[in-house]
Amino acid sequence: MVRWRRILGGLAAALTVASMGTLVSASPASAEPDGPQKVVGGTRATQGEFPFMVRLSMGCGGALYSPTLVLTAAHCVNRTGATTSITATIGVVDLNSTSKVTRRSNYVYRAPGYNGNGKDWALIRLSSPVTGFATLPIATTTAFDSGTFTIAGWGAATEGGGQQRYLLKATVPFVSDSTCNSSSMYNGQIVATDEICAGYTAGGVDTCQGDSGGPMFRRNASNAWIQVGIVSWGDGCARPNKPGVYTQVSYFSSAIASAAASLGG
Ligand code: ARG
Repeated sequence: MVRWRRILGGLAAALTVASMGTLVSASPASAEPDGPQKVVGGTRATQGEFPFMVRLSMGCGGALYSPTLVLTAAHCVNRTGATTSITATIGVVDLNSTSKVTRRSNYVYRAPGYNGNGKDWALIRLSSPVTGFATLPIATTTAFDSGTFTIAGWGAATEGGGQQRYLLKATVPFVSDSTCNSSSMYNGQIVATDEICAGYTAGGVDTCQGDSGGPMFRRNASNAWIQVGIVSWGDGCARPNKPGVYTQVSYFSSAIASAAASLGG
């Protein structure tokens, strides 16, 4: 069931912006377990807080890996190859801001072997570099694959809701593969090598449709942001016992770096 949902979600992300929503960010205490949640939280990010955040025109998020490359989810793109069909918006929390910076894509690299089961990463190359925005380094070891993570995006603020104009953010705790794969959660559907879960057992805070491809990140030992996840999938949004599932970036860091090099950095 969840696998099916993943594939449908990916198609929806690729085919329609209208279906895209915002970051679900109700506090766990105020979440309503049965039924649609009221918009409670997801606090707004401040302008410049996450300079690496990218909004993609197919209704996904992304992060600046370099001045010309955006790291996103494989399920947000169709294939590897040249394409000018994607527009990336950078540098603003307000998507309607006149100070936004936009770039067209010129190439997409989708993770080799991607079939909707793990391997959910892709790189989008911009037609020209952006300047003045900090990039988001990716974790190259599992050292940061635990603790508390920050999530951010312009996706749905409630399950089934619409996309957001302003960037929302929240924090979610790490959930181990064994817990995430337990019968009360995803019952073996997590690809432990490829995926990392995060969220509250009680639900209430999560990424949601339209946040896909965006980064999950935390501070490293030097207090700098480091990317540990890519928004991938979940059963609904912010439901109890259904944490968000993210691509485990550390596992793919070498493959991502090689692909980036092949795309010219
Ligand atoms: N697949 C969704 C998208 O295309 C993201 C779903 C994230 N879901 C979650 N419960 N964390 O936008």
